[in-house]
Amino acid sequence: MSDLSALDRTKLPQHIAIIMDGNGRWAKERNQDRLYGHYEGVVSVRDIVNACGEIGIQYLTLYAFSTENWNRPKAEVDALMELLVNTLRKEVDELHKNNVRLHVIGAMATMPPICQKELQEAMDITAGNTGVQLILALSYSSRWEIIEATKKFSQDVVDGKHKIEDLNDALFTTYLETKNFPDPELMIRTSGEYRISNYLLYQLAYSELYFTEVHWPDFRKPHLIEAIINYQQRERRFGKTSDQIQTNQ
Ligand code: FPP
Repeated sequence: MSDLSALDRTKLPQHIAIIMDGNGRWAKERNQDRLYGHYEGVVSVRDIVNACGEIGIQYLTLYAFSTENWNRPKAEVDALMELLVNTLRKEVDELHKNNVRLHVIGAMATMPPICQKELQEAMDITAGNTGVQLILALSYSSRWEIIEATKKFSQDVVDGKHKIEDLNDALFTTYLETKNFPDPELMIRTSGEYRISNYLLYQLAYSELYFTEVHWPDFRKPHLIEAIINYQQRERRFGKTSDQIQTNQ
């Protein structure tokens, strides 16, 4: 366990992305329904958003509901949507007070209308906030995002706005859901699973990956600090050699 003083403030990641995994297992270990794990998962969300504000992390992306999660039992999907609505209603004032701005990435049109309404309201209320930029990935999957981006670019070619040969990394990025955010330097997955699960595949190209056995409902500020300390000990080479990095070439 670690405290804030252990962090190197000059080497903080700007953007942390998290796969919040293990809610179901956490609940089962306590002989509870899976939903109990999701409710407790919200407590972790609140703690980690606050911790990011305290530490000075500017962007936090949370994988709250994937495209594939629609295949879960209907009762669980409905309960997750209700939890989202209730959480937004309960937390929006606190988020606003803490200068947090809410953003959403994903196929919004596939979310229930009440979720879309609450999300839009929360985004409008917090639109001017300059603290933590909290990005919820909802009905999101990376392959969907990349295919959508490709369709939009192709349409722009058909409409004469771009030529095929214009396409490069910088231009393609402007078609992604994350066009307004820098790539995450650190991606954390909880609960001992070593997969990316269709999450930010394009954006994680050079991210440091951190996996922990801790289930999401137990993941709190000290665990986040531990992950950042681990990140700060890594050498980020972006394809260069270690010598080049150390001599700033
Ligand atoms: C993964 O655990 C978690 C989810 C699919 C949902 C994440 C939702 C929350 C943390 C709560 C709601 C969030 C917001 C922002 C209101 P799992 O169910 O896959 O766990 P398991 O792998 O142990 O079954």
